[in-house]
This record gives sequence, C-alpha cells and structure tokens, in this order.
Amino acid sequence: MSKLKIAVIGAGSISEAHLTAYSVHPEVELIAICDLNETRAQEKAERYGAGTTYTNYMELLQNPDIEAVSICTWNHMHAKIAIAALEAGKHVLCEKPLCKTVEEALNVQKAVHDSGKVLQVGYVRRYGTNVQTLRKFVDAGQLGEIYYAKASCLRRLGNPGGWFSDSERSGGGPLIDLGVHVIDLCWYLMGKPKVKSVSGNTYRKLGNRAHIDNLSYYKAADFNAEHNDVEDLANALIRFDNGASLMVDVSFTLHARKDELTVKLYGDKGGAEIEPELQIISEQLNTIINITPQIDHPSFQFQPGFNAEIAHFVDCCRGRTETICPVEDGVEMIKILSAIYQSAAEGKEIQF
Ligand SMILES: NC(=O)c1ccc[n+]([C@@H]2O[C@H](COP(=O)([O-])OP(=O)(O)OC[C@H]3O[C@@H](n4cnc5c(N)ncnc54)[C@H](O)[C@@H]3O)[C@@H](O)[C@H]2O)c1
Repeated sequence: MSKLKIAVIGAGSISEAHLTAYSVHPEVELIAICDLNETRAQEKAERYGAGTTYTNYMELLQNPDIEAVSICTWNHMHAKIAIAALEAGKHVLCEKPLCKTVEEALNVQKAVHDSGKVLQVGYVRRYGTNVQTLRKFVDAGQLGEIYYAKASCLRRLGNPGGWFSDSERSGGGPLIDLGVHVIDLCWYLMGKPKVKSVSGNTYRKLGNRAHIDNLSYYKAADFNAEHNDVEDLANALIRFDNGASLMVDVSFTLHARKDELTVKLYGDKGGAEIEPELQIISEQLNTIINITPQIDHPSFQFQPGFNAEIAHFVDCCRGRTETICPVEDGVEMIKILSAIYQSAAEGKEIQF
C-alpha cells in the first residue's frame, strides 16, 4: 500500500509532537511543511525530511499529492485553514481548540459534511492510556452513573505569551487553551451529556508575570510578553440535561503553591481520578477500596499521546475506523467555552 502523504501547517512548538509522530509512523510520508516564517518551515522540513516548504497554506493545499494535513497554527486560523483544506479534498487533523467562535465551528462542521473527508479534533488527552483504560471501566458500568466531575489545570506561572496572550488570535486565555482539554476529558468520559446551562467567571488580576525569575514554562515559538489581554484565571460550573454537573478551574498564573492538574469523576457505583494518576475508587464487602490499575503510564505521556492520536488519524484517513474526536465534539466544546466567556462577561448563568 502506498504511504499516506501528509503536510503540516504551522511549524511552531506543538508541530514537533505531530512531526515526531508522523516520522515514526510506518504508513506515512511527510511531504510538505508550511509556516508564515520561512526559515522555521525550512528548518523543520530539513529535520523531518519533508521535500517542500510553503509560506502560504493556500498554495500548499493546491498540491494534489497531499492527502491529509495537520493544522498547528494560531487558533484564529484553524477554521479558515480547515475549511479550505476540506474543500481541497484533504483530511484534517486540527489542533485544539477547533476554532474561536460557534459560528466558525458550525461552518467547519458543514465543510466536513459537504466534503465527506475526515476531520479529527486534536483532543490528544483522550488517547492517554490512563483515559483509554478508564474508558473500559466506565463502559462496563463500573462507575455507574457519573453525576459529578471536577477538573483543575492551574499553572502558577505559565502564560505562553505571543499569540496565546492576544485574544484576537487565541480567542482567550487558559480557558480556551487548557480548559478545553480537561473539560473535554470529563465530558467524554461522562458520555457526552447535553449541556443545559453554564456559569463562569474570568479574572485578569496578575497579568502575565513575565518579570518572574528562574522559573521556566511553555512558550509560543514567537514569545513576546508585551501584549496580554487574556484572562489569567477562569472557573465554571456546567450543568447537564441528565442532572450531572462539572466544576472546572484553570489558570495561566495564580498565587498557588504549585502547579495542579486534577481530573476526577464521581459516579453512583464508583469514582475515578485520571490525573495526576489513574485511580479507581469503589466499595466491596462494606469497605471502601482505592484501586491502582497497573499500567505503564498512569498519567498522560506527551509524545506517546500524540503518537496514538496520529496513528488513529491515519487509520481514519485509510477508512479503517471512525474518529473518536469528530467535528461535533469540537463544536460542542466551542459552545461551552463561548458560553463560559459570555457568562463571565454578563455576570449571569447562560441557558442552552
Ligand atoms: N494538544 C496540545 O496539547 C497542544 C499544546 C500546545 C499547543 N496546542 C495548539 O497548537 C496550536 C499551535 O500552538 P503552538 O504552541 O505550536 O504555537 P506556536 O506559536 O509555537 O506555533 C504556531 C506556528 O504557526 C505559524 N502560523 C500562524 N499562522 C499561520 C498561517 N496562517 N499559516 C502558516 N503558519 C502559520 C506561526 O508562524 C508559528 O510558527 C494552537 O492551536 C494550540 O492551541 C496544542
């Protein structure tokens, strides 16, 4: 079988994870890389063996050899590039978030349906072996009905700067950047319940704290701390039609003692913690028991997660299976995130 011909659009920080995953996949041939920054595109192309580089994604999409693309650009270009790629007959793996607004999300969804091509949303954390292991327990009814979930992704220092802190290009701060992952994990494992209402708060109290010394953090490829108009903390309560609820808080910076990543689910037969490491909580013979599944990676592993995400994308492009991260899940998330921002701006609960 001939190899699947891939291009990566956006050659910044996260493209490394995509490029590495493609380079180890036996059925993939990486043929092109595109970035506004020509030197960056060329440097990556050389390193990962891609034959062609572009600075204009529309030119790349005209290349008939390319069958599928990864979109790893700033958020505000996701919808535009995804729609153009689908219209050009390419399959798309789009980094999270799917896009910035509900209107854009619905346009992408229409383009997916019209084109019949694959679009997979980059919810990479779903591919963690901790999540896939727990998924089996949830599907087998071991947690019963999950009626409550709680997730925190708190960075004490970690505004990535550049486009991340420019709401025009990012769509927001830690909520759209980090919240998207942890809200999605809870929602996915809860069985994707329908959202009923959302109440949220956002705060801009600490700025980006670029003055802090001797503490490193994730940065955009073009790091620049001068402009920052995004929230540094967001929290929300999401209510679902089935009566379940989800509480979340996320920050780029906060006066917290240390960074915190926790994702917890509570059902009427058992509970679970996905992060910081997989745990299942249950009851037997009148005794509460905490179960520690014995797996190699009880917490999310970055590159193996991307390798699994991209292997699944390749399977979907080959028509072997349907994606577990369809466009509909991207649309639903953008509705949730937009409602949280709206709730925070208006100071009231938003009904769906
Ligand atoms: N899944 C994850 O865990 C994860 C982690 C980090 C970032 N991301 C997502 O990946 C995307 C990129 O983030 P990053 O950290 O790599 O940012 P980055 O700034 O490091 O890289 C983005 C690159 O895109 C390029 N670019 C922007 N607009 C372009 C266009 N129109 N055409 C071609 N190139 C363009 C920029 O020049 C830059 O090199 C974002 O959507 C972000 O949310 C996902």
